Amino acid sequence: TPAKTIFSGIQPTGVPHLGNYLGALRQWATLQNDAATNMTLVYSLVDLHAITVQQDSNQLQQWKKESLAMLLAIGLDPNKSTIFHQSDVPAHAELMWILSCQASTGYLSRMTQWKDKTANEKDGNKKLKLGLLSYPVLQAADILVHRATHVPVGHDQAQHLEFARELANGFNHTFGGDVLIPPETLISPARRVMSLKDPMAKMSKSHTNPNSRILLTDSEETIRTKIKAAVTDSMDSITYDPEGRPGVSNLIDILYHSDAHPAYPSQDELAKDLAGLSMRALKDRVAETVETTIKHIRASYAHFLNDNDYLDKVAAQGAEKAAKSATTTMKAVKSAVGL
Ligand code: ADP
Ligand code: NA
Repeated sequence: TPAKTIFSGIQPTGVPHLGNYLGALRQWATLQNDAATNMTLVYSLVDLHAITVQQDSNQLQQWKKESLAMLLAIGLDPNKSTIFHQSDVPAHAELMWILSCQASTGYLSRMTQWKDKTANEKDGNKKLKLGLLSYPVLQAADILVHRATHVPVGHDQAQHLEFARELANGFNHTFGGDVLIPPETLISPARRVMSLKDPMAKMSKSHTNPNSRILLTDSEETIRTKIKAAVTDSMDSITYDPEGRPGVSNLIDILYHSDAHPAYPSQDELAKDLAGLSMRALKDRVAETVETTIKHIRASYAHFLNDNDYLDKVAAQGAEKAAKSATTTMKAVKSAVGL
């Protein structure tokens, strides 16, 4: 089999939640644990992406540390995976600039995430920053600088990956040769985990209501309280219908995808077995399953978070490996451009 390089990233903008885990992080660990010897794994805490919106500097530093501890807690092993803070490797920002000189502003302004953000901006475009428009270029640089062949992400990122491929192909076309490698998207098999408070929106670190998400650090009691208060509906019996019954269906999805739940061929099959339960009983089962799925992560996280020396060592070692990985690409890119 040909050599593969996996790249993926997560923003250090808060403690990762169940959606991050089921939609992305779990797959990162699985890829690592199943990796063939010719597979390289590169995972980044993308702090330069985090500052596309204003951050408190002390808070951001704390989140970076917590996010690193969480990547270790979910089972990433610094000897098997390259784990690093994006801003420790200047090649990411450097390649971004070079790619910015090739990227179409029209294409960028048609991206769904940009359109969503501009639609919500009441005061016109004054508060919208250039970094928010151009961050898909940085994301492309993250991937391309490590010559990634495969990028595991959630559905929300598919459009950005298409953009990265087009940038790579466009660069190769303009400057000749195969300097950049257009990456393949590995879409997570899990559906998006939805907010517990607004099941039409995805669970996200950036939602203001903390009860909308289950953190991977939540205690058993907190998990129970949040799931109990999850928005559902007052219909009798349990059925799986993501359009008509998004709240209940989200709970079924969480059960279906949780490590601690028996495997089912489909959510519909699972829903048939749950049909006789009361909403309360369903919620109890979900809370129990989530607790069993994340309790070892919570314990491991607490252990890593207390070990500052180890976290610093992992970050330094990761930055060194990532810088080395970026060197080949930057040499080829600069030479192609004439820099
Ligand atoms: P957030 O939106 O919570 O800040 P990030 O943007 O840092 O999360 O995304 C990190 C990874 O987690 C990405 O691969 C993204 O697709 C995935 N992800 C984020 N939210 C969810 C969700 N609610 N369900 C499934 N996957 C998600
Ligand atoms: Na996001």
